[in-house]
Amino acid sequence: MYESATVSDDADRTAFRRAEKNYKLYYEQDSKFSRKKKLPKPVDLSSVLDFNSISQDFNRTGVLPDGIRVAESDSQVFCIENRPGFYFIPNALSLEEQCKWIRESLTSFSQPPNRTNHNAIYGPVADLFDSAKANKVLVQEDANGWKFYDGEEAKQRSCKSVSASVLLRKLRWSTLGLQFDWSKRNYDVSLPHNNIPDALCQLAKKHAAIAMPAGEEFRPEGAIVNYFGLGDTLGGHLDDMEADWSKPIVSMSLGCKAIFLLGGKSKEDPPHAMYLRSGDVVLMAGEARECFHGVPRIFIDEENADIGALESELSHESGHSFAEYIKTSRININIRQVF
Ligand code: OGA
Ligand code: MN
Repeated sequence: MYESATVSDDADRTAFRRAEKNYKLYYEQDSKFSRKKKLPKPVDLSSVLDFNSISQDFNRTGVLPDGIRVAESDSQVFCIENRPGFYFIPNALSLEEQCKWIRESLTSFSQPPNRTNHNAIYGPVADLFDSAKANKVLVQEDANGWKFYDGEEAKQRSCKSVSASVLLRKLRWSTLGLQFDWSKRNYDVSLPHNNIPDALCQLAKKHAAIAMPAGEEFRPEGAIVNYFGLGDTLGGHLDDMEADWSKPIVSMSLGCKAIFLLGGKSKEDPPHAMYLRSGDVVLMAGEARECFHGVPRIFIDEENADIGALESELSHESGHSFAEYIKTSRININIRQVF
């Protein structure tokens, strides 16, 4: 699906592409003579759905905006009338759960045998987060081996090197459970893998229930963790490599607020734009599995990122390193039943 972002199939031609461009981060053209801090171009956010405030208004007044309804069996789960199979659960994860999955995403989900976007260049990279915290540097040992060294030691080796903190900033995805192969756009069951951790399975099953065919239980088999820094986007795509589209994809948002675009079955269909905040869970099942979607924007400024409580919770921890990371980042964990 990352590929689809770079294919210039529809430069500006489709409604989806136009929406992506509309929300994407652009900077004001620098004035010739000033070298002031770059300013983001203002964007009109007035038509972005905010399920947090929709939910608050609904709980207070019982009124919903046109085109939005609550799920039959749970009035805290929201649906969009013309996107059957799509569910939005605002604030589904407690602060404690958010902290837990942020820590796991950074310390364990990116560990081998789980693969990340760094594998293709560096091979398996272990302990990236701790190495960044310790200011280590990844150094090329021979034609195909890379190893972390302390900064001083790395300087003495005149080899190719890259600092762990740069690699952490460039971490874009990792795959859990059955390993998804981006180059073949399919699951490669022959690759070594760990099962998805039990606590994550239980959480996914709990939230998937509302979108499941009656009497069936969700079976988490694979997951993709996306890491976003400022300016990172996820281009419009479909997740269509799983066998049974009646099963939902369970998608959890952590960290900075983002804009999510939910299009239709064609990129010509104008997408709904909505905010995804830390703790929100989105389900895509049935017809919504055939809908283009993507993330054109994350917000890291204090006013828009909406992570005050999360940041202060994480900053109680030693070293503040999780708080430092999440201040400028978003993490998305999306969990799938593959077969
Ligand atoms: C995906 C995806 C959405 C998000 O990884 O397939 O659609 O919220 N992620 O990051
Ligand atoms: Mn997707």
